Amino acid sequence: MVRSVQHEMLPRPTADEASRQQFIVAFKQAMNRGLRSTQGRLFEAVIAPGYEQRTGHAPRTRDEIRDAMGADPAYRGWSSLARAAQEQMWISVGDSVFRERERLADTAKRLSASSARRGSLNLDPQFVPPRGVTAVDIHLQTGGYAMDLGGGDCSAGALYEAGGNLYAFGQGIGRTDSKAAHVQRFIAARFPGLKPRRILDMGCSAGSSSVPYALAFPDAEVHAIDVGSGMLRYAHARAESLGAAVHFHQMDCAATGFPDGFFDLIVSHNMMHEISGATRRGMLRESRRLLTPGGVCVHQDVPLRFNGLSEFQKFELSWDTLNNNEPYWEVYANADLEPELREAGFDADRIHVGSLPAAHGSLPWFVACAWRAE
Ligand SMILES: C[S@@+](CC[C@H](N)C(=O)[O-])C[C@H]1O[C@@H](n2cnc3c(N)ncnc32)[C@H](O)[C@@H]1O
Repeated sequence: MVRSVQHEMLPRPTADEASRQQFIVAFKQAMNRGLRSTQGRLFEAVIAPGYEQRTGHAPRTRDEIRDAMGADPAYRGWSSLARAAQEQMWISVGDSVFRERERLADTAKRLSASSARRGSLNLDPQFVPPRGVTAVDIHLQTGGYAMDLGGGDCSAGALYEAGGNLYAFGQGIGRTDSKAAHVQRFIAARFPGLKPRRILDMGCSAGSSSVPYALAFPDAEVHAIDVGSGMLRYAHARAESLGAAVHFHQMDCAATGFPDGFFDLIVSHNMMHEISGATRRGMLRESRRLLTPGGVCVHQDVPLRFNGLSEFQKFELSWDTLNNNEPYWEVYANADLEPELREAGFDADRIHVGSLPAAHGSLPWFVACAWRAE
């Protein structure tokens, strides 16, 4: 497993825990990269002909495809194992995180209270996390994004970072997060004159995308928001441990407390697929309100677009909605972001929606970008 940076807040697995976590990476690779790729052939060669024999026609709609696939023991076996691998991933990471809960809370308190701290932590005791985050444990993360066990608990952030490392097959979490690096390259190429004074990262989780902005723009004031207090405590302590100045706030991306025109650059990473359509539209309106003239927003996410896909491809991609607690996965996949950015108040000729070129083996990330006239 590659961890490009070590810091004080990372949970330290015992040898047994590390071995189980290594096993989970291999298990998930076998499920997601290996067996999953055989499903199209299974459908074409066995399942669709069998369905046609029984019903007189090939499965056409997504529901018919789901019925046909769901009746097949090989598919059911794969689906059960893929779900079990995801649950085991969080359990294996939870073993380290919950064993280390007190050390993590104490370390976070020390780093947050240190006179050498560079950023800040601004939790709002009156803040109620949105139901979209509390009603389900998104992608099965134990306790969900908003988990706070009290006593300065940081477990949600520790789970997110350590679990995310396994989720990404051991790549891409560290000081220079790959998503932020892609967005920064895009910004440098598309807006070479942009010298942001204030930057906002929305839906920052453990802050692994926020820190690279503080490092890349040392003269800018960097702010990051999320709804989870346990997530934010961890993110702040992690940033301090890495020597990065980031100001973390407990706020909703659709209704922050910042004044109009406060930021020159607003970013988010992999947040859009985890918020409802109403929150996403509110977040785009909020981006427009918060941007100063000449300011830019870049909302990056996974390249999951349903437009142009076959019903079988949509069926395959909807596995996460049904089995991995991703309630907004398809809401995002079906979203048409260009008209949404216009409705949010951006000019039609100051919008760019599309893919970023893949680099270093990453996904070809997707961005919804808009900017204000000078
Ligand atoms: C997939 S994670 C983001 C990952 C992170 N940006 C990164 O690059 O590592 C989605 C985050 O969005 C947060 N979130 C969900 N709804 C939100 C909202 N309405 N406002 C702000 N953050 C929200 C969740 O708590 C979660 O931490």
